[in-house]
Amino acid sequence: MQYQSLYRKYRPKNFDEVIGQEHITKTLQNQIMSNKIGHAYLFTGTRGVGKTSIAKIFAKAVNCENNKNGSPCFECETCNRLANETDINIIELDAASNNKVDDIREIREKVKFTPVGAKYKVYIIDEVHMLTDSAFNALLKTLEEPPSYVIFILATTEIHKLPQTILSRCIRFDFRLVSTLELTNHLKHIFDIEGIKYEDEALKLIASAGEGSVRDTLSIADSVVAYSGGNVTKDGVLKILGTTDYDLILSFYDYLINKDAGGILGLIDKMEESGKNLPVFAKDVSKHARNLLVCKTCKDPDKILNLPKEILEKFKEQSTKIEEKKLISFMQIFSGIEAELRYTLSTRLLLETVSLSAIYGDDQVKKN
Ligand SMILES: Nc1ncnc2c1ncn2[C@@H]1O[C@H](COP(=O)(O)OP(=O)(O)OP(=O)(O)O)[C@@H](O)[C@H]1O
Ligand SMILES: [Mg+2]
Ligand SMILES: [Zn+2]
Repeated sequence: MQYQSLYRKYRPKNFDEVIGQEHITKTLQNQIMSNKIGHAYLFTGTRGVGKTSIAKIFAKAVNCENNKNGSPCFECETCNRLANETDINIIELDAASNNKVDDIREIREKVKFTPVGAKYKVYIIDEVHMLTDSAFNALLKTLEEPPSYVIFILATTEIHKLPQTILSRCIRFDFRLVSTLELTNHLKHIFDIEGIKYEDEALKLIASAGEGSVRDTLSIADSVVAYSGGNVTKDGVLKILGTTDYDLILSFYDYLINKDAGGILGLIDKMEESGKNLPVFAKDVSKHARNLLVCKTCKDPDKILNLPKEILEKFKEQSTKIEEKKLISFMQIFSGIEAELRYTLSTRLLLETVSLSAIYGDDQVKKN
């Protein structure tokens, strides 16, 4: 049998299988159960958090003859028919490749025909921000007076590119980044079904590398499984990711902040021993300075950093312990040695020297 990537294999089929978007799934389920369905929805949020999946579940659920708690039953005649993805009542359009006014006009023509053997015709327009101005105008006309049997679901990762006129006609749902905890549990669940062995720490690392996106998390899991052949360990994951885990960077910064030379040397030693890539580490260290600066100076760091909540909270807390001036100097120091680290033969020595001078920068070093 052909190998199917995890994110394809585990596309949620009903609302209960969706993780991290309860604020959306609950509302949609309630609308379906109470038969108060809107005619234009807008789903927005970053990649791989469930927009298309939920749109498809919703499209099936509104037509299901016997919905279960708002989800499709998969037993009735309509559900069976909709199970084969070519059902004519669910129309998917990828605006990335169909962004012209004529593409939308075609929809407007077809909208006039009533659904066949179902209550609703559902149009799912993905990447809707890619439409041209004239296509938006054409869409607007349809959104203004859609026939009662038509539902539009517009999905986008870039809400700021949509005209106000479209926004104001849709019921908007903001998809969240999924927390590392939820992602970790999701991985656990999938690995258990697949019979893959794992260390708990390894799952956490995969989940935090996914940065809130379920699809990204599952793709990373795919490559990790391919690499480690059924036994997923923390070390294996770190090797594949080639990046440093957040906790390591956070401790490194704690040492920098506390001027703890012994702590820094010990941590570099540990990394060297476990075969970490030191140039990548230097890059992550300078990136972290930037992240802390964002936490410190921006009104809405969540939006800019796009990180899972727990990690962001740790970053925010750490950012209160260090001055902006220091962060800027760390950024310069560590980005400055990144290239050098790639060429020098004594990477460890260079990293140690630079890290210590970063704290010596202003005198006293704590002695352990
Ligand atoms: N909230 C979620 N719960 C469970 N699985 C999810 C969720 N979000 C995404 N996935 C997984 O990721 C895959 C892709 O999700 P989906 O296509 O719904 O994302 P999307 O938000 O539409 O992304 P894009 O912006 O790239 O179109 C799904 O097949 C599923 O495996
Ligand atoms: Mg999508
Ligand atoms: Zn059904």
